[in-house]
Amino acid sequence: MADMKEISPNAPAAEKLLNWVDNRFPATKLYKEHLGEYYAPKNFNIWYIFGSLALLVLVIQITTGIFLTMHYKPDAALAFGSVEYIMRDVPWGWLVRYMHSTGASAFFIIVYLHMFRGLIYGSYRKPRELIWIFGCAIFLCLMAEAFMGYLLPWGQMSYWGAQVIVNLFAAIPFVGPDLALLIRGDYVVGDATLNRFFSFHVIAVPLVLLGLVAAHIIALHEVGSNNPDGVEIKGPNAPKDAKGHPLDGIPFHPYYTVHDIFAVSMFLMVFTAIIFFAPEAGGYFLEYNNFIPADPLKTPAHIAPVWYFTPYYSMLRAITSEMMYVLIACVLGGGLVAALKFKMPALFKGVILIAAVAVAAMMLSIDAKFWGVVVMGGAVIILFFLPWLDYSPVKSIRYRPSWHKYLYGIFVINFVVLAYLGVQPPSAIGERVSQVGTLFYFGFFILMPWWSRIGEAKPVPSRVTFAAH
Ligand code: HEM
Repeated sequence: MADMKEISPNAPAAEKLLNWVDNRFPATKLYKEHLGEYYAPKNFNIWYIFGSLALLVLVIQITTGIFLTMHYKPDAALAFGSVEYIMRDVPWGWLVRYMHSTGASAFFIIVYLHMFRGLIYGSYRKPRELIWIFGCAIFLCLMAEAFMGYLLPWGQMSYWGAQVIVNLFAAIPFVGPDLALLIRGDYVVGDATLNRFFSFHVIAVPLVLLGLVAAHIIALHEVGSNNPDGVEIKGPNAPKDAKGHPLDGIPFHPYYTVHDIFAVSMFLMVFTAIIFFAPEAGGYFLEYNNFIPADPLKTPAHIAPVWYFTPYYSMLRAITSEMMYVLIACVLGGGLVAALKFKMPALFKGVILIAAVAVAAMMLSIDAKFWGVVVMGGAVIILFFLPWLDYSPVKSIRYRPSWHKYLYGIFVINFVVLAYLGVQPPSAIGERVSQVGTLFYFGFFILMPWWSRIGEAKPVPSRVTFAAH
């Protein structure tokens, strides 16, 4: 048994209580390690508020979700009516439901901005690879969570959206049809699907999500935060005070708790304004077709997923049989360049060339729909590999060659255009643009080992740059 810390018998009751707890549970130790004496770089800017905001929205989603579950009925005959009941009859039910539906979109806006911050400041690079990987896993879970949650109101879009997406799994060779059956629990989306999606949405995925968020933050506190300069403040050569605290760091509490409370108050103003004045957000947060009960006999004219999935949906639609020839050319070209350009034994070169030809042959023989699914999934999976794709000598965009800023700018515009095209009905011009956009998206990542080395990096300062304000 560890030594019990004694304190004066005259100490105030609260102090005695805390000492009693500390002798049994590391309350003060945890507080000091993660808040009071957790040193974060002093040059954080606005991009650093989104982690805390994501935590806030996670709490909002879980709390409102608990209250929604009290009144919601996961039954195909009752689900739509139970949501209407929540909206009209349950006291404050409309507020809880709108907080949850707006929270879903807010979550994605925040997480996209949070990821973009990581991208521009190189926060995924050594030693933060695991923070990034846990983040990507969180992103996958969020997508699964949002997709399954969307089926629950059992409106037209819930029903047909799920039908389209689950059918995509059926395009996987050999196992596809059985897999789709397993996901649906029936030959069409139905009551069994609703029940299993409900159980995944309210318990299975949130549990994994919470575990991943804990792992994300533990990993962050192990290595410390990056910052807009990409300068390590806790490394062996970083300047420290007599107590060993980094000179370029400030304690998280009170400095960043105040910073984050300010961000939270700004966020809540926008969040509440949307909830009270525009909860459907013009059909982007809640699609109009979803106010019509699901009807398996009436397919809506235009089925589109919610906005946060549409960049990937555009990429799926971009993979037509014509586009397959472009992809095959890319695979063969890539194999050829790798074999000609890199120094390696002839045997490896041969293996690479044979692999490229084999993949090209597979691409020719399997339906384009399947490759669309591969591209859509690959667009998220590729993010996991980012730490090993970036070869720039510096982390932060601030010290990279100036043209990198334009490249990242085009990446964002391209992503937004893909998102926009994904909500639009299919068109010839939209298809072409999304094909170019898909090639750019993948080119950005796959060619990163090449382009990230090009150009001259600016000198990185030895200390973080900080102007007191
Ligand atoms: C539920 C979702 C998430 C929550 C609650 C969350 C929470 C946080 C928090 C509180 C921080 C520290 C504060 C900050 O740097 O902003 C952080 C940092 C970080 N997060 Fe997340 N995060 C989430 C999703 C993601 C995703 C999807 C990614 C990337 C794919 C990601 C990548 C990172 C990285 C790289 C850092 C370190 C940033 C730095 O030090 O510069 N996070 N996260």
